[in-house]
Amino acid sequence: MKIADSKEMKAIDNYAIQNFGIPGIVLMENAAIKVAKHVLGAIFRLKGKRITLICGKGNNGGDGFAVARLLYVSGIKIDVYLIGNDKDIKGDALINYKILNNIGLKVTSIDAQNLAELYDNLKSCDIIIDAILGTGTRGEVTGLYKKSIDLINGSQAYVISVDIPSGIDADTGKILGTAVRADKTVTFVIPKIGLYTYPGAAFTGEIAVEDISIPCEAIEKQNISVNLLTPEYIKGLLPVRRKDTNKGSYGRAVIIGGSENMMGAPAMSGLAALKSGAGIVEVCVPQSIKERVAPVLMEAIVHGLDEKDGTISLSSLDKIKNIIKKASSLSIGPGISKSDDLKKLLFSLIEFSDIPLIIDADGLNILSEDTSILRKAKGQIIITPHPGEMSRLIGKSIDYIQINRTECAREFSSIYNVITLLKGTNTIIAQPSGEVYINPTGNPGMAKGGSGDVLTGIISSFAAMGLKPIGAVNAGVYIHGLAGDLASKELGEYGMKAGDIIEFIPAAIKSIML
Ligand code: ACO
Repeated sequence: MKIADSKEMKAIDNYAIQNFGIPGIVLMENAAIKVAKHVLGAIFRLKGKRITLICGKGNNGGDGFAVARLLYVSGIKIDVYLIGNDKDIKGDALINYKILNNIGLKVTSIDAQNLAELYDNLKSCDIIIDAILGTGTRGEVTGLYKKSIDLINGSQAYVISVDIPSGIDADTGKILGTAVRADKTVTFVIPKIGLYTYPGAAFTGEIAVEDISIPCEAIEKQNISVNLLTPEYIKGLLPVRRKDTNKGSYGRAVIIGGSENMMGAPAMSGLAALKSGAGIVEVCVPQSIKERVAPVLMEAIVHGLDEKDGTISLSSLDKIKNIIKKASSLSIGPGISKSDDLKKLLFSLIEFSDIPLIIDADGLNILSEDTSILRKAKGQIIITPHPGEMSRLIGKSIDYIQINRTECAREFSSIYNVITLLKGTNTIIAQPSGEVYINPTGNPGMAKGGSGDVLTGIISSFAAMGLKPIGAVNAGVYIHGLAGDLASKELGEYGMKAGDIIEFIPAAIKSIML
């Protein structure tokens, strides 16, 4: 599903107005009908309940005035507040404001003098509708706006935000000084990027995407490059297993990893690959740990490689080249450690391998010593950094990366022609073309050692099965998060561990394929 920034959303509205002649006031009415529906659905019995709506002076406030009318004419009691002066309202919002005056629904303008009245009201109301600021928010929220938002956040009421919680930057998810903590956000046409980007994503509550009768053409014309991964899209990526197939039909995933002190990582990747559908999984580890890794990977082929100082040595290169002759995906990194030999090995494989190559963990730390090698890649490279690894790859601070996640991933992908999977809450996947995907699955219980190894295994399995590299990454990230969500439901975020994510991979895939 496409997701938009504020400029793209404005262009969609304008396209609908100019090319189809749908007046803005009609779009506003449609938006209001949808919000009213959610208000009515929020409480089992509205009788005796108090609803308060707080509007700003822009079109987000205009949506709010229309909601107030719809509820009021249905016989529902509603208190309406306007932040600031009604002289500042214009256009479609003014039309809706005037109608409220005409039908006798009082709108109280909030100023410094009567802020206490709003405080008293919010203390005892049951539902708050936040129509203060939408995608038109620019700069920090201060003064009466800030105070009103803070009063909403101090209330016990159920909060519904119109389009985006007031105070969140729709383009970046940044909190502009303060922001409404909503229980539900009713957003229109397509979601806004700020709803799925942290810290803003923590303020939205449940997100409902509502149609306001804008034809698809208005969206398609904008060439929007940011997408939200959805179960329908992931289902379309995963092949149905036909009856007349065998293990050879589902590819061969080869995973290279492990070192003297890190045996678990390649085993976790291998197990995750086995649970994700590949026909054959092969795991290559240093010879000295082979006997301990093999027993946990009964269904996989485990190879022992030459080693030096407890890590895989360069002398194993020919053996690896031989193993990957029949492979359809290659992963390198889980638990691999670092050494000069490993650097030469990784760089040789980047130049040699013509199948999708997933580089993870210490593979990325080795790569950060000279990223220019990526320009010599034969096959599609997929990198899976967390913000710390990304920081080493691009030489920028973690703080910088965290507030510019999309840009960092997109830039690296386009410079080096790789697929970049930047881990974190709402992982970002960028393609060399500039197309970006945001993943909505996953939870804080997954922030534990080994989760990344599991992800590598799932992606290597999907890539081996023949999904296009970007499809393998998108499906891998989504299924990994979904398996984590199922694990957390069953075990809780504290107790679940990376191994539990592996156990829930089959259930996650099954739920998508239904
Ligand atoms: N602090 C205080 N005030 C601020 C701040 C801030 N930090 N930032 C902006 N404002 C003010 C602006 O000055 C502006 O007022 P002005 O128009 O008098 O200059 C106002 O807040 C703009 O706020 P918004 O209501 O967020 O912006 P806009 O008027 O662009 O409306 C919209 C946003 C269209 C509702 C958007 O959220 C959206 O696209 N929603 C989905 C579609 C929809 O609802 N369509 C119905 C309307 S159709 C139409 O408007 C054409």
